[in-house]
Amino acid sequence: MTLTLKDQLDLTAIRKQFPVLDQSVNGNPLIYFDNAATTQKPLAVISEISRYYTEDNANIHRGIHTLAERATAAYENTRKSIAQFINANESEEIIFTKGTTDSINLVAHSLGGSLLKPGDEVLISCMEHHSNIVPWQIICEKTKAVLKIIPINDKGELIFEEFLNLLSERTKIVSMVHISNTLGTINPVKKVIAAAHKWGAKVLIDGAQATPHNKIDVKSLNCDFYAFSGHKMYGPTGVGVLYGKRSLLEAIPPYQGGGEMIKEVSFTQTTYNEIPYKFEAGTPNIAGVTGLNKAIEFVQSIGLDQISHHENALLLRATTQLSEIEGFQPMGTASEKASVISFNIEGVHPFDLGVLLDAKGIAIRTGHHCTQPLMDRFKVEGTARASFAIYNTFEEVDQFVSALSNLIKKLR
Ligand code: ALA
Repeated sequence: MTLTLKDQLDLTAIRKQFPVLDQSVNGNPLIYFDNAATTQKPLAVISEISRYYTEDNANIHRGIHTLAERATAAYENTRKSIAQFINANESEEIIFTKGTTDSINLVAHSLGGSLLKPGDEVLISCMEHHSNIVPWQIICEKTKAVLKIIPINDKGELIFEEFLNLLSERTKIVSMVHISNTLGTINPVKKVIAAAHKWGAKVLIDGAQATPHNKIDVKSLNCDFYAFSGHKMYGPTGVGVLYGKRSLLEAIPPYQGGGEMIKEVSFTQTTYNEIPYKFEAGTPNIAGVTGLNKAIEFVQSIGLDQISHHENALLLRATTQLSEIEGFQPMGTASEKASVISFNIEGVHPFDLGVLLDAKGIAIRTGHHCTQPLMDRFKVEGTARASFAIYNTFEEVDQFVSALSNLIKKLR
């Protein structure tokens, strides 16, 4: 079922695929607006995990028996699907990881650890998630490289001129979020990559929030690495992806040692496997990977154009209505924005908003959203954050705003 933008989106049919949505929380129908933290899973993903363990469970790449061959085929088919999904040149450029954090740590350790010398620079932006800050701090401390921060403006947009000014022959790596989990800002990553490449720097894009909302084309972006998670795009937790250009994956050392990533081991010398296996030590999350294939099928059955079209409509409706609430203070008003609204209400602690909305069955996130330096930039302790997915409805937005307005009146 692929809908064109002109067709009416059948939200009832879509929601039916998500059993978790059909429940009451604290006596009210669940409204799930914490999709930037993790999305809910469609039946196809849930069933695939169960099917895999019921029918195919075996270790991959190791056995010659039928179950091992079936498990290996299911795992490797997902690699092919992902290569197509993000338009990689070949499936060998797809590494399975535990998630975006794991993917970024791999690049920081393997690329950063081998490339960075004292005085070299790594650039990240002010809106990065902790998972795209701390791995670089660790590797910079080890290599005596310097971590530099690209500033953002009051709307939560990258200040591109400042980025260009920071680039130099010392810049070896630029690592940047594609869509901010806190601000919703969509960064101009294609321009960022082109500018960084002029100085010979390698670029990693954190796509955790981007892959569920926008079509990703790693060839057109020309990024060196692209990281994302299964669970933010309707797939299972504990599985993620690192895309890397073949030449770079071949050039950098492995991240972890163990089974599967070797060619020959002796006590005096070990040789490493080809990519992608060089980076996949140990038995992976096979059921998670095959479940991720179903998540990709789900996303493709609707189409990313349709998904972003619907989510943008939800974002517009929520932003318009919330703006009418007295004391509404949005954080993140970039002109290019995905379906995330972070905000404070003057005189009300965001934690109280989260707790009181939960009492009405409405799940939002409150706090620093793993972006403490960004909170410091905006001089706030935290925000309330609503984030939307394909299964959310306009009625849910209306109910959320109405519940929020009512509880603010009571709190004041
Ligand atoms: N990074 C996740 C979020 O934004 C957990 O909520």
